[in-house]
Amino acid sequence: MRVAGRLASEVLEMIGGHVRPGISTGELDRLCHEYIVRKQQAIPAPLNYKGFPKSICTSVNHVVCHGIPGDRRLRDGDILNIDVTVLKDRYHGDTSKMFLVGKVLRRARRLVEAAYECLLRGMDAARPGHSLRAVGAAIQAYADAQRFSVVRDFCGHGIGSNFHEAPSVLHYRNRGPDLILEPGMTFTIEPMLNAGSHEVKLLADGWTAVTRDRSLSAQWEHTLLITTDYPEILTRRTEERF
Ligand code: MF3
Ligand code: CO
Ligand code: CO
Repeated sequence: MRVAGRLASEVLEMIGGHVRPGISTGELDRLCHEYIVRKQQAIPAPLNYKGFPKSICTSVNHVVCHGIPGDRRLRDGDILNIDVTVLKDRYHGDTSKMFLVGKVLRRARRLVEAAYECLLRGMDAARPGHSLRAVGAAIQAYADAQRFSVVRDFCGHGIGSNFHEAPSVLHYRNRGPDLILEPGMTFTIEPMLNAGSHEVKLLADGWTAVTRDRSLSAQWEHTLLITTDYPEILTRRTEERF
């Protein structure tokens, strides 16, 4: 899991240098695909996963998640999520980050920063002996305070030799199963925050989830390992200090 997590984080570090106005999401997908397959000798887990046609997800502006890379070129002012999942030696690492393209409006930047803070607070709540519910409660409390909404139709997930497995990691206050966290558990936290309503709808391609009111959406994701204290963030990037 540590190896797979590190590889996934390195894909995001690599692709950051290519994110700029004019490049298409399809070109970003091809660069990540080649890097994962050739350099990392690993497998991009999204490709052909339940029929998903590409190797990464690229979600621009009002796209909440699972955007399919294609001809869409990035423009000045866009916010973009790139979600990478690498399968290496039978284990998965899953992580995503937001990129600001050129000069981005303050409101969009605030949304992106709030979504990151939600991820940090969710990770901080993921301690042994705590209920998994503490994660969603921490995320929702910060999103509420910032007047952003939390997407409810997608969640984090257990991860390991399966891309997605139990438990579901809800990013909002909930009365789901009261799972007590224990050292050794691995799961993702991947909050999606919307500038408007939490409601999403699925486009006709069967994958692309967008905000129903076309407001902006932002998401960050890490894969983490529960330890005896603060979790080990398996997909931490060098730019991150925790
Ligand atoms: N990486 C996404 C997640 O965080 C899942 C993508 S599924 C795909 O769980 F098929 F769209 F790739
Ligand atoms: Co995930
Ligand atoms: Co992901």
